[in-house]
Amino acid sequence: MIRLKNVSKFYKSTKAVDDISFEVKEGETVVLLGTSGCGKTTTLRMINRLVEPSSGKIVVNGQNILEQPAEKMRRGIGYVLQHHGLFPHYTVAENISIVPNLLKWSKDKIINRTRELLEKLQLSQTLGDLYPSQLSGGQQQRVGLARALAAYPPVLLMDEPLGALDPVTRVGIRKEFTTLDELKRKTILMVTHDVQEAFELGDRVCLMDKGKIVQIGKATDLLFNPINDFVRSFIKEQHFQLELENIFINDIWSLLPKAIDGTNENKISPENSLWQVLETVSARQQGFERFVSINNNDKKQIEIASLMAAYTQYKNSFNHE
Ligand SMILES: Nc1ncnc2c1ncn2[C@@H]1O[C@H](COP(=O)(O)OP(=O)(O)OP(=O)(O)O)[C@@H](O)[C@H]1O
Ligand SMILES: [Mg+2]
Repeated sequence: MIRLKNVSKFYKSTKAVDDISFEVKEGETVVLLGTSGCGKTTTLRMINRLVEPSSGKIVVNGQNILEQPAEKMRRGIGYVLQHHGLFPHYTVAENISIVPNLLKWSKDKIINRTRELLEKLQLSQTLGDLYPSQLSGGQQQRVGLARALAAYPPVLLMDEPLGALDPVTRVGIRKEFTTLDELKRKTILMVTHDVQEAFELGDRVCLMDKGKIVQIGKATDLLFNPINDFVRSFIKEQHFQLELENIFINDIWSLLPKAIDGTNENKISPENSLWQVLETVSARQQGFERFVSINNNDKKQIEIASLMAAYTQYKNSFNHE
């Protein structure tokens, strides 16, 4: 886990990071979100000891990072840099094996691990002998991630890992990220300024502005209980879609009508978000009346009017907490 307590970084008159405290629990993914220059990269760099904090305390895996040799500590933390940061004069395979080499792994072990990572990140084995400049932006970012994962670090810091990609490639790789087994058990702190990406990848989102944390919480906290107008305006444009993506059939189960007997042609898992339901229904090109959701022995009718009514009721319930 990662814990920051009253951490600041000042450069002369610039307060790059201004007294922030938060925690990333073991196995959790927290996403730092915010406008350019709000202190996201500086926060990551302090955790990895590339920047020394002006004040405050940072604990990673139970150890105060300022009390350990920086080199040793960094080997337990994978770091994906903002602009992939691959070494241009090292091949892809050499880039991936940097930390394993420092750890003096055997040659065979390094070769096998490199091969495994290329495969997991959907990179052809032949890319191993190429130099970073011979790869596409998307491939370079995958190599950056492979390098960070190489020595099985329990903690991963990622600075805009998909930043340089076009929107289509970005969404594709993002979907792969969520299913990658190597990322599942890790404690991850990731930076983005893409709202959609933050909500999709983060267990919690930490919204920053001018070096300070404005609000940290689950997607539903930021969506339904925004702490101020800054939070509201930051997510305003994608608000409706984000809501639909973050409310699940299970959440509104008790608000949905019972299924009409005989309708069971198309089943929708209660684990689907409202957004997924809309996608499924539109893809099948059938009327809503043909869809039901089944949870144990309970069966609910899925239809647009009751879905929207339940959505409104669910949303309103947050305002009265
Ligand atoms: N070495 C430095 N010297 C002086 N000022 C710095 C230094 N590094 C960062 N800053 C300043 O600190 C602030 C935060 O920078 P940081 O790189 O953390 O922002 P960021 O949130 O990562 O932005 P972006 O989204 O553009 O990457 C900025 O105002 C920046 O100019
Ligand atoms: Mg940055």
